Amino acid sequence: MSTKRQLAQQLGVVVGFDDPQAALEQYRTPPAVASHLIHLADLNDDLDGRTVVDLGCGTGMLALGGALRGATRVIGVDIDPGPLETARENRRRVGTKTAVSWLRADATQVPLCPDEPVTAVMNPPFGAQTGNEHADRAFLGTAADIADVSYSIHNEGSVDFVEAFAEDNDGTVTAAYQSSFDLPRQFEFHDADSRTIDIELFRIEWA
Ligand SMILES: C[S@@+](CC[C@H](N)C(=O)[O-])C[C@H]1O[C@@H](n2cnc3c(N)ncnc32)[C@H](O)[C@@H]1O
Repeated sequence: MSTKRQLAQQLGVVVGFDDPQAALEQYRTPPAVASHLIHLADLNDDLDGRTVVDLGCGTGMLALGGALRGATRVIGVDIDPGPLETARENRRRVGTKTAVSWLRADATQVPLCPDEPVTAVMNPPFGAQTGNEHADRAFLGTAADIADVSYSIHNEGSVDFVEAFAEDNDGTVTAAYQSSFDLPRQFEFHDADSRTIDIELFRIEWA
């Protein structure tokens, strides 16, 4: 197994969004954060021999992390076709031999019903900036439907919401972590060169 740092280096070649849409909260998860999530999944034996579904995959950061760390196959789902083109190129950059498919679909109503065990990974839109608080709820709903374990990134202060959602949907939060990263200025309404995003990361087992 590569180290977490080596995985972050491998993911460093993943290119972000050409023309990011604020309404879809399109920003690339930093490689260090993505490698943290994928490394945890690997340590919990949630990648090997499983299908990894990345909900809101964007340009493929989490999906490709799963591919590099032993998933049997990977499906990246995004509603916007532009980033999926970039994801395809990113797969070549990363150089994985794992089977990877890119699916244009609404991740809140994803047309998948895999037979094999599924690990869902996601950094979904939070909705905090747009007044659509907990836009991530519907993404968790998809994880509850198609996966038996998920790893998800949420904004700071989500623990009560995530635990309550899991409890109501036959899920159990088995691990929670806090972290943060700097997001470079990319939208006109950002008034600073970068801003710090405080996040929480959860592992949930779904019955
Ligand atoms: C914060 S970005 C994360 C991108 C990528 N997963 C990463 O980690 O770099 C959120 C992604 O969710 C996608 N998205 C937003 N709403 C969606 C929906 N209803 N269905 C599928 N994808 C959606 C956006 O297009 C964007 O790519």
